[in-house]
Amino acid sequence: MIALVPTMGALHDGHLSLVRRARADCSAVVASLFVNPTQFAPGEDFERYPRDERRDLELFGAHGVDIVYAPGVGDVYPDGPVASLAAAPELADSLCGAVRPGHFDGVVTVVARLFRHCRPDIAYFGEKDYQQFRIIERMVADLGLPVRVVGMPIVREPDGLALSSRNAYLSPAERRIAPVLHETLQKMAQDLAPGSDIAAACADGRAALRVAGFDRVDYLEVRDATTLRPALRHGPGLRVFAAAWLGRTRLIDNIAAGGG
Ligand code: PAJ
Repeated sequence: MIALVPTMGALHDGHLSLVRRARADCSAVVASLFVNPTQFAPGEDFERYPRDERRDLELFGAHGVDIVYAPGVGDVYPDGPVASLAAAPELADSLCGAVRPGHFDGVVTVVARLFRHCRPDIAYFGEKDYQQFRIIERMVADLGLPVRVVGMPIVREPDGLALSSRNAYLSPAERRIAPVLHETLQKMAQDLAPGSDIAAACADGRAALRVAGFDRVDYLEVRDATTLRPALRHGPGLRVFAAAWLGRTRLIDNIAAGGG
């Protein structure tokens, strides 16, 4: 069985947790290294996205990756970097998709092309990007691709901050505030109970983030973990999702709630 672990590099232990799982499950492990231009909007951080290919290759090698696929933009986009697939709107139009229009079209386009180039049996994605994971799962089902999509738990720093390549942008002061994002989600997940006022809990959570020093909250919402539809009342299989800014850095995180 061939595994694929798609990444944009600047590797950390979150990425490597996917590689470890792939290595344990499969006879051949391919990892891709490609900063995908079509998932960045103009003015986002495509140009300054952290890149360290030599270190990434060493880490992939040390973790037993058999093949690193590191295409150029022209290999993935021979006709120019334009998204040619559309992500399922009912999954992609809210949360990150609402504030990053077109982002998930770029993601499904690149992942479909990586699948075509690498022909994996299984591909591993992190729940750190939970909405992305669900959208890719749907893309695979809609196109009938012969790939099993596996979602993996979020790897965190000891203080709870989810590992992310973008954490490198944080100043020391911002880094001290950053774990409040996970703390807030954790508290919301713990407090949600039958009869909870979900809208009030989200408003309190947003206020807590701003008091802690977050500059802007893109969203903080409770949704069904499968359909990503807004949760109107407490029940099984919910998830709390958040995206918030510290200075120029946008952090995202999510957590299971309501026993799901
Ligand atoms: P990237 O941000 O490099 O992430 C690559 C994979 O690592 C994704 O599946 C992501 O969810 C996972 N990941 C990141 N941080 C994680 C963490 N703290 N714990 C567990 N998994 C984590 O996501 C992308 O790249 C791109 O959108 C990609 C799918 C490669 C398409 O370009």
